[in-house]
Amino acid sequence: MDRLRIWVNDAPYEVLDLDPNTTLLEWLRRERRLTGTKEGCAEGDCGACTVLLADRDSFGRTSYRAVNACLVLLPMMQGRRLYTVEGLGTTEAPHPVQRALAEALGSQCGYCTPGVVMSLAEACYRSDLDADWKLDDQLSGNLCRCTGYRPIRAAARRVAGTRPPGPHLDTLETLSEAPPAPVYAGRDRTFFMPATVEEAVDLLAAHPEARVVAGGTDLSLEITKAHRRFPAFLSVEGIAELKGIETEGGVHRIGAATPLTDVEAWAQDALPPLARMLRFFGSRQIKHRATLGGNLCNASPIGDTPPVLLSLGASVEIASTSGRRLCPLDAFFTGYRKTRLEPGELVTSVHVPVPKGEVRAGGYKVCKRREMDI
Ligand code: FES
Ligand code: FES
Repeated sequence: MDRLRIWVNDAPYEVLDLDPNTTLLEWLRRERRLTGTKEGCAEGDCGACTVLLADRDSFGRTSYRAVNACLVLLPMMQGRRLYTVEGLGTTEAPHPVQRALAEALGSQCGYCTPGVVMSLAEACYRSDLDADWKLDDQLSGNLCRCTGYRPIRAAARRVAGTRPPGPHLDTLETLSEAPPAPVYAGRDRTFFMPATVEEAVDLLAAHPEARVVAGGTDLSLEITKAHRRFPAFLSVEGIAELKGIETEGGVHRIGAATPLTDVEAWAQDALPPLARMLRFFGSRQIKHRATLGGNLCNASPIGDTPPVLLSLGASVEIASTSGRRLCPLDAFFTGYRKTRLEPGELVTSVHVPVPKGEVRAGGYKVCKRREMDI
């Protein structure tokens, strides 16, 4: 495939011969001149680049996800629909979240405001914002340095779950699956998008140089901060088997590419120690794209989920062209950013034994601020 097709603010765009190392934020601002989406940190920390992605969660339900455009590689948006602040409302006809933020006096310098608006827009179309802590979590990825959060929270309370009729709700209700796109190439670099584990391991065997990527929240930093350029990527985002969670035979099996917001929602009742950890893992924008498999395969010493998963006796399932094997998590990490993964291997799922009998488990994170810290 030589071109990407992406819908932005209800307009279709074709992208030809662009380096797959390009972020969505760079493309929106530089190529499309949609400069309402701001760049603050380019590392997922400030939320100024937040855009709204129409998506399906790991259980098949449609929803909007507020995501950091600075951490999304453009080919990840193939066949998908997203909105920037320019596509939400206008000065003459503002979207209800824009009106609510203005009436609550929730903006001063305005640099953070487009990102805040997009996070509030997600809140608008959610149906589970039934507690104050969830509203705080919704806004945890949006830094505002001059207005203060009281008026922003007031606006959030006003719009949460209101689902106003209009084109944005129509998009959500008529959303179809993104068409399959096996590979995109631009500027002599390649982005593979396999649909099955078998395709993925065959591609990895044939292209050992390809970097495996799921949501890209960590890998993108190597591009935006260390200015690396990768010759090839292998995205696992389109592999249905890697998404979703099932419990069978006394084991919770969590697909390695299941976004952490989906894991968190499921774990509230099924695995509270993990849910508690994920509450403090990072912003909602990050958790919409980050995955459990990614957090383990990075083998970062500051990874948040390994301590909880180690204490629960978890294992990872690993696939390659030779078949599948199970590796206990306490044997998986071998050093700083090193694991037992061999070239050509892929983590497909995380297995957590269902706790038996009376088990008390709790994870505690020591940090200077609650969200977005290490
Ligand atoms: Fe700061 Fe993307 S620019 S989160
Ligand atoms: Fe100035 Fe939020 S309004 S940073």
